[in-house]
Amino acid sequence: MSSDTPLRVAIAGGSGYGGGELLRLLIDHPCVEVTQVTSQRNAGKFVHSVHPNLRPWAGRPALRFTTLEELEPCDALLLALPHGQAQGQIEHFSELAPRLIDLSADFRLRDAAVYEARYGHAHAAPSWLDRFVYGLPERYRDQIRGADYVSGVGCNATASNLALLPLVQAGLLRDDRPILVDLKVGSSEGGASANAASHHPERSHAVRSFAPTGHRHEAEVHQALGRDDIHLSVTSIELVRGALATVHTWAQPGTSERDLWRAYRRFVKDRPFVRIVHERSGIYRHPEPKLVAGTNLADIGWSLDQTNGRLVSICAIDNLGKGAAGSAVQCLNLMHSWDETTGLGFTGLHPI
Ligand SMILES: NC(=O)c1ccc[n+]([C@@H]2O[C@H](COP(=O)([O-])OP(=O)(O)OC[C@H]3O[C@@H](n4cnc5c(N)ncnc54)[C@H](OP(=O)(O)O)[C@@H]3O)[C@@H](O)[C@H]2O)c1
Repeated sequence: MSSDTPLRVAIAGGSGYGGGELLRLLIDHPCVEVTQVTSQRNAGKFVHSVHPNLRPWAGRPALRFTTLEELEPCDALLLALPHGQAQGQIEHFSELAPRLIDLSADFRLRDAAVYEARYGHAHAAPSWLDRFVYGLPERYRDQIRGADYVSGVGCNATASNLALLPLVQAGLLRDDRPILVDLKVGSSEGGASANAASHHPERSHAVRSFAPTGHRHEAEVHQALGRDDIHLSVTSIELVRGALATVHTWAQPGTSERDLWRAYRRFVKDRPFVRIVHERSGIYRHPEPKLVAGTNLADIGWSLDQTNGRLVSICAIDNLGKGAAGSAVQCLNLMHSWDETTGLGFTGLHPI
């Protein structure tokens, strides 16, 4: 589908990994014209000097970075700035565009007290928290459809939420035992800026417990699933893009494979980007992040030990795709009543 008058979209923080992924998706979006892309450090330079995959071809524009201060009014402003920037300037940003999508954690939580407890400081614009919808279409599609302000999603929260939603919605989990989510994540989760942990000799071949307890994304999972006994443990592994959530939980007594198939099939029915991966044979029997790299897909699956009811559910995503820019573009589509999948048709690569 296409629109005669494209939506004028600007991206703030376009030199980062999330902003670069937004740009990659929106350059080919049939209803969108990207009007401005910001970077403070690279202002004036071509966008492809930072994102070489976006070297122009076949008529695609050679955009240059502008500064944040040079942003002009547009139809939708997508913010891919570090934590704290959006809440500090929300009044200004909302004057620039009638619709905002903010990839950061600034507007993901509805409760200012929970925000303060998790992030260690008071929110700078608490009255705005209620005005944002949490940007996970697989959970909040109807609210996103009519929204002007949508937050992004935490990548680890998204893998956790999508691993658990089919089971929670079907009422198949025991509620007297906590849920433990083991997350294995790639290096691009840390963004484009280098630090000691991302230095190649330190990061390469790492299997590093990054947040065994207390990961901030827990609050997003509690909010989306309505349970506060869900605990995340995050480990950095040898991967650039990707997050794999392996959820350790317990099924209601008597739960069968057939019950699980029914629950998962019901869940994916009207959720175009979610696929069931639950094969009997082969090397790709369970969800695997490398197969969804570059896509907005979430592969979900499970394994049930019927002798004792132990249930492991699994979700694989690309942290920059479904865990950030892909979901944001899906939300942009919903906010403008376009087909949810517009501009997000990439299926992934094999081998990769
Ligand atoms: N990486 C992920 O997997 C992921 C997933 C979900 C959500 N997110 C969220 O998305 C946001 C962006 O993450 P990212 O990984 O793309 O980060 P990043 O790679 O570090 O990019 C940050 C961007 O913000 C710009 N920037 C930095 N400081 C700024 C300032 N003071 N004023 C204006 N612009 C500034 C940077 O531009 P210059 O330095 O060139 O000026 C760059 O374009 C974060 O809030 C993050 O939490 C990231």
